[in-house]
Amino acid sequence: MKLLVTGGAGFIGSNYIRHVLSAHPDCQVINIDNLTYAGNLENLNDVKSSPNYSFVKGDICDRKIIESLKFDAIVNFAAESHVDRSILDASPFLQTNIMGTHNLLEIARQRDCIFLHVSTDEVYGSTEKGFFSEDSPLQPNSPYAASKASSDMLVRAHVETFKIRAMITRCSNNYGAYQFPEKLIPLVIINALNRKPIPVYGDGMNVRDWIYVADHCRAVDAVLHSGRHGEVFNIGARNEMPNIEIIKLLLKKLAWRLDQNEDELLRLITFVKDRQGHDRRYAIDPSRIERQLGWKPQMSFEDGVSKTIEWYISNKQWWQRINSKEYMQYYDAQYGERLKK
Ligand code: NAD
Ligand code: DAU
Repeated sequence: MKLLVTGGAGFIGSNYIRHVLSAHPDCQVINIDNLTYAGNLENLNDVKSSPNYSFVKGDICDRKIIESLKFDAIVNFAAESHVDRSILDASPFLQTNIMGTHNLLEIARQRDCIFLHVSTDEVYGSTEKGFFSEDSPLQPNSPYAASKASSDMLVRAHVETFKIRAMITRCSNNYGAYQFPEKLIPLVIINALNRKPIPVYGDGMNVRDWIYVADHCRAVDAVLHSGRHGEVFNIGARNEMPNIEIIKLLLKKLAWRLDQNEDELLRLITFVKDRQGHDRRYAIDPSRIERQLGWKPQMSFEDGVSKTIEWYISNKQWWQRINSKEYMQYYDAQYGERLKK
């Protein structure tokens, strides 16, 4: 198979490419990524010289560049992915997440190739109790979630109208190596290593459902190879936790690992003004993919978090280089005022 992976220089895309190259030695992977602030080719240093891998710098909104490539299937990770940024400015989210997906769908339709759309549990919105199934209504609350829900709807429309061979996956919160420092888990680890305040939005009791990135990658692969066209699959590890508990767990583990005083690290926790429209709880039911495709997560949260801490400690240069001017400006805009209070 010749696979076009979009957004392969980002967090999940780069982990997915690494997975495909080792799990399917006969598969050719083309990675197309326009290298936004979140795209980083260093994420693929260990596989960049593989004969089965090639990189094209390009935008998923650019029809010509994608039409110039040869592939049998598309796995679409490319997106603007950070909720806080979508609250600051939604425009790039609408452009990439909606128009970019539309562009890829049109090409999938022309070529009759398989299209796997990587979506998110955020499209279902927030729930105080129970679990979202694949048939739950879409009730996105942030501009990011609304842009992803729109792209899901476009995929559905292309399946219904043009009979394209597409599937949608909706995964919960990922963590692991190569995650951009703006997201909660790397932000806590990096700020703790730098002895910087750790911003906790609101009361810290918002709940997310966490999955180790490698488990998500195996699930995407299972859907690509065995999912039926038109199907939607929730992907989750049944691992709900309030933010404050995760933050405390990370700080405890870091204190133990670095042989440092736990209370000193815990004192970095700083409650700040809440995210606007902050979804209280995400919770999905992943039983369809478990039952139908036999997929199950392999990594426990305890082990996954320890591995992730170890990775950020051993790869300081990676995240120190990411502390670019763009990221610093974003960080100040997000936390400058909030952390002063
Ligand atoms: P990321 O922000 O780390 O990476 C996104 C990548 O897409 C970057 O490499 C970026 O350069 C690239 N990109 C952005 N706009 C592009 C464009 N117009 N053309 C080509 N490339 C472009 O994101 P991530 O966390 O790896 O998420 C990947 C996908 O998985 C997204 O679609 C996201 O919605 C979805 N998802 C993420 C999570 C999570 O917890 N991170 C959970 C569920 C689903
Ligand atoms: O649920 C899947 C989604 O998970 C993906 O679709 C998104 O691409 C991904 O970014 C993630 O969205 P979240 O908004 O849940 O992730 P984030 O890491 O930004 O925040 C996790 C929780 O932690 C959320 O409740 C907000 C809170 N938070 C976050 C940051 C960055 C804080 O309390 N402080 C922070 O500094």
